[in-house]
Amino acid sequence: FTVDWDASAAEKGGWDSFMDKEIHEDPAAVQRTLIGRMDDDGHINLDEVRIDEHELKSIDKIIVIGCGTASYAGMVAKYAIEHWVRIPVEIELAHEFRYRDPILTPRTLVVAISQSGETMDTLMALRHAREQGSKVLAICNTQGASIAREADAVLYTQAGPEVAVASTKAFVAQITAAYVLGLYLAQLKGAVYRDEIHSTLASLKDMPAKIQWVLDTQAAAIEQAARELADSKSFLFLGRHVGYPVAMEGALKLKEIAYTFTEGFAAGELKHGPIALVEPGEPVVFIVPPKRGRDVLHAKVISGIEEVKARGATIIAVAEENDPDVKRYADIVFWRPACPTLMSPLVDVVPLQLFAMDVAKQKGYDVDKPRNLAKSVTVE
Ligand code: G6P
Repeated sequence: FTVDWDASAAEKGGWDSFMDKEIHEDPAAVQRTLIGRMDDDGHINLDEVRIDEHELKSIDKIIVIGCGTASYAGMVAKYAIEHWVRIPVEIELAHEFRYRDPILTPRTLVVAISQSGETMDTLMALRHAREQGSKVLAICNTQGASIAREADAVLYTQAGPEVAVASTKAFVAQITAAYVLGLYLAQLKGAVYRDEIHSTLASLKDMPAKIQWVLDTQAAAIEQAARELADSKSFLFLGRHVGYPVAMEGALKLKEIAYTFTEGFAAGELKHGPIALVEPGEPVVFIVPPKRGRDVLHAKVISGIEEVKARGATIIAVAEENDPDVKRYADIVFWRPACPTLMSPLVDVVPLQLFAMDVAKQKGYDVDKPRNLAKSVTVE
């Protein structure tokens, strides 16, 4: 009696690709990244960040560096950290940062985000920052990786090993870690009221369940959309505020694994150029912010949808459940449960990850090993 056993299939735990498995681990990646870092009173404890509290309190600028998906997590973090901590946050691609003579002082905190911890561009940028006397904190998913070892401090994302080349669960874990860091700095600086930290942490804790809701309820619609749109030659992705980096990440996923030409833009740029690309049938993906609280933002994105719709585009929206404006204009909608604007990237990226995977599968590609790409790029 023999049993055929396929080691690779076993590692995928019943999913037919690592990417599928890892997208379904998004909720756990967020949850595990929060564990042990906050207590029930809304107090954040980051003893693992070995940078002296006084030094952290004196930080007057943060520069976040990374490449690819990690850089988009950094872009999301900029919006949140500036809001909570009230100090300037720059985000830069590590390879650009390294070779442009950036202004670095001992009061600059450089945050290097890297899933693998081995990306050479990010490692070189980290070394450069430390040589200039700045402290570097790494947000890293791999214990003991070069970037984690060479940084002054590490905040590990607890996403678990990521095998598929296209990064998915690491992205949501990176945003979570950067948010915990931002709230910790806010706590140290006393920059926001304790209550705000508390309520923000409560929202963060709710996010794994909201991501799960998307996985459970939206997958069929996403697969259907992928079937309908797989042959499209190109896609535009548009978002504002934190929806802008999500649009960039959605565009990156689709180009990485489905080899479709995509561009992500800030939705406000539409009228400054990209709208010239829109012709009848062009699929345009909009990340629509929640309506409450930031109504202006929502109205602006809806008016962008109207502009594009008037030119015959096919509108795909990622939007809050039952948003009436979206129902009116969008051809296809991937719904999200209600959540605060700053939390929305954690959930909005999920349908875009699934969509990219489903389109690539429709086209018959290996979603785990896209052509020409490596999981970790260890050359500059
Ligand atoms: C490569 C991978 C991307 C990843 C980027 C940064 O280009 O293909 O998926 O986002 O590197 O990787 P890191 O390990 O530094 O996060």
